[in-house]
Amino acid sequence: MTRLLVRNARMVVKGRPVIRQILIDQGRISRVAVRIKVDAERNLNAEGNFVIPGVIDPHVHFREPGLNHKEDWMTGSRAAAAGGVTTVLDMPNVKPPTFTVKRLQKKRALASTSIVNYGFHFGASAQDNTSEIRKARGVASTKVYMNSTTGNLLVEDIELIRKIFSCSRMVTAHAEEQQLEDAVRISKETNKRLYLCHVTLAKELAFLKRAKNRHMFCEATPHHLFLSSKDEKKLRGFGMMKPVLKSEKDRRALWAAVNRGLIDAVGSDHAPHLLDEKKSAAPPSGVTGLETMLPLLLDAFNKRNISLSRIVELTSRNPARIFGLRNKGSISPGYDADLCILDLNMKKKVRNDELHTKCGWSPFDGWILKGWPMATIVNGNIVFEKGDIFDIKAKEVEYDEV
Ligand code: NCD
Ligand code: ZN
Ligand code: ZN
Ligand code: ZN
Repeated sequence: MTRLLVRNARMVVKGRPVIRQILIDQGRISRVAVRIKVDAERNLNAEGNFVIPGVIDPHVHFREPGLNHKEDWMTGSRAAAAGGVTTVLDMPNVKPPTFTVKRLQKKRALASTSIVNYGFHFGASAQDNTSEIRKARGVASTKVYMNSTTGNLLVEDIELIRKIFSCSRMVTAHAEEQQLEDAVRISKETNKRLYLCHVTLAKELAFLKRAKNRHMFCEATPHHLFLSSKDEKKLRGFGMMKPVLKSEKDRRALWAAVNRGLIDAVGSDHAPHLLDEKKSAAPPSGVTGLETMLPLLLDAFNKRNISLSRIVELTSRNPARIFGLRNKGSISPGYDADLCILDLNMKKKVRNDELHTKCGWSPFDGWILKGWPMATIVNGNIVFEKGDIFDIKAKEVEYDEV
């Protein structure tokens, strides 16, 4: 593999903007310095542009196996690359659900077409699959659905949930209201790390402010940050997801939590369903998000609603630390060369027909956003540049102890 020199990269170091040269060798960052004098085989001039660690999205649904009419690893990972996302963690509510080590192995094979790096959350079954959870190696967490949502993975038995927590590396939970409080309590009882997906309500945030400890982490989704129940009428099926859209008051509370550090990560909860399914009388819950998550946040940066360093914490540094993703989440020597080059001044309209996701729609269709990824680099390979996608296979993530 050849060397790549990213020149004149603007970076935020300790909250201050600086200009650095980034040398990439064998898919890893080998040097970051004010001056680098080498003749790299490839050069990329980032002059005038910020370079951030590639976005790590801890919450996507790539629908393989069994639901690949909605999305697959090729289309899903292209959408990721176009959105500045370099690593995704995939959810287990596929068909059949990822409840066994054998099914996990099958999923690994399916994901090998991905052009962004990937990892998996293992599924928890209401039929007690804790013997499989114990055997599962190389997974980010066990995903527990404590409320009903798309797929039939609901687990309600509190004793079983406690058992699931006890035998897992860590737990990722879909838990709303009372179930969120239950998850927090069980996390404390079992002394187990907990990642709470898509927190939405002001009252949940108030509870977490009191109850959260250093083993607990909270996610906000872009749709809950940028949409509210007042958009439901216009969006119809395209505004239907779990948790449902909340009030403007809740949305403001979520933004306050994002900027005060109560929210640790943003996850897209990219949950594609076909256009026809969403237009039907009973639309399935879930919206796409991979291609618009970073642009929405950059647009918010341009509107002075969030800082760039906070965006970096929420989209890469924290997800890497929370899930113990080895060599990810920082632009430093020894780290994987997963980068995103930003054009903070680019204004572009979100258009359904320009998206890479198989389902071809976004609840943000028609929004004009300022701030877009210009290029996405995965393992030192340029997989997205100025609208073009390059299909270069990526890798499964490795884990450190958490
Ligand atoms: C998700 C899906 O479609 O898989 N749907 C959703 O509304 N978010 C499931 C989930 O994450 O709850
Ligand atoms: Zn969920
Ligand atoms: Zn989800
Ligand atoms: Zn379908």
